[in-house]
Amino acid sequence: MRFHGTMRINGVGHLEIGGCDTVKLAGKYGTPLWIMDEEYIREKCRRFRKAFMEGGRRGDVAYASKAFLTLAMAAIINEEGLSLDVVSQGELYIALKAGFPPERIYFHGNNKSLDELKMAVKVGVGRIVVDNFYEIDLLEKAAGDRKVNIMLRVTPGVEALTHDYIKTGQEDSKFGFSIADGDALTAVNKVHGMKNIVLKGIHCHIGSQIFETRPFVEAADILLGFIRNIKHDFEIDMEELNLGGGFGIYYSPGDEPRDIASYADHIFHLVEDRAREYDLKMPKIIVEPGRIIAGPAGTTLYTVGSIKNIPGIRKYVSVDGGMTDNIRPALYQARYEAIIANRAGEEAVEPVTIAGKCCESGDLLIKDICLPEIESGDILGVSCTGAYGYSMASNYNKLPRPAVVLVREGTAELIVKRETPEDLIANEILPKRLAKDVDLPYASMS
Ligand code: LLP
Repeated sequence: MRFHGTMRINGVGHLEIGGCDTVKLAGKYGTPLWIMDEEYIREKCRRFRKAFMEGGRRGDVAYASKAFLTLAMAAIINEEGLSLDVVSQGELYIALKAGFPPERIYFHGNNKSLDELKMAVKVGVGRIVVDNFYEIDLLEKAAGDRKVNIMLRVTPGVEALTHDYIKTGQEDSKFGFSIADGDALTAVNKVHGMKNIVLKGIHCHIGSQIFETRPFVEAADILLGFIRNIKHDFEIDMEELNLGGGFGIYYSPGDEPRDIASYADHIFHLVEDRAREYDLKMPKIIVEPGRIIAGPAGTTLYTVGSIKNIPGIRKYVSVDGGMTDNIRPALYQARYEAIIANRAGEEAVEPVTIAGKCCESGDLLIKDICLPEIESGDILGVSCTGAYGYSMASNYNKLPRPAVVLVREGTAELIVKRETPEDLIANEILPKRLAKDVDLPYASMS
């Protein structure tokens, strides 16, 4: 398994992250457990700042909170001076609860409700990224007398080489106004005439887990052409160009992530060239990385339970979590790497398949991975689970969602408590006519 951030093998042969022995963490907090490496997160934020916001570059970096959002994460992102991309009232609420300045928040979504827009206007969200004509009308209502700064999300018609479910820049997409069919220019025309709506810039997001710089540069090129048309038709300069997120990370062999600076260099050069060529004001360049900040920072610890060997076919090793804490293998055929945390230095000798505990044959976390000889009771660490793991977790099969621990310089802090069986029924109401007196053998199963 490739090591990320502060991962290392300690003196007793255990996997250590953030100076903490993961086997001890599993003992103290139970499994499954997410470990988040704070130093990794902060270091990535700094690299993005350096590449996009320093050295004379006018840019902004908005962390895409859908990748992983907790109060602590929002607070760290705020301390690092990044902005935040939220996509629902829930994400906005968490950000605000963590003290995140609303003026540094970008509000996304292809079907924001009137209530969501009203809340965004009321708290003074920095930018609302408007996705469609219906939303323009809703926003006009929600804004009332207040002036609202917006960006328009467009589809540039760029195909990124990634899984179909996480592609968004192509023409056939539920997101944004199409440039090709003229909707995007019609949208500019529509908002241009509105008193309470101020068009600041154009946004696109072409997809996720993209390794090349080319699709970003192509998208920027198309957007610059569009900005030139806007200037021609309306005599206004777009102040901001938001290219979304999607920067790929290493999960398993074959994934070859790029240096953040190389994305920034390619994008800035193209935009500078085109701005000069088209006689446009150089726009501020915004990116929205999610996975690349949170992904490799996270490791999930599981306890190995049953092991089923089917001679000549496959050895199934079941762990105490699965698709409820990581839906990505089932949904996108995502590949992960793993390590036996309590014997981290041992050589891999046998191919096994790591299965989850859900009643689904498709609940396999890692198909065919080579590990040291594994035993029930071992602690398995699956790396790069920090993005779209916790945020996409579910209670399928009524599994309580795991806890999250933030580690840094030898200290571990619980930032999300493990759910209990009581939590599973917290929102349930049993009609009186169906209620029975029950006497559980223990007061609370938590
Ligand atoms: N900006 C916008 C407007 C987005 O829609 C997204 C992701 C991002 C930024 C951040 O993309 P990132 O840098 O994290 O790739 N659940 C899927 C990923 C869905 C991404 C949705 N939008 C997965 O687990 O792969």
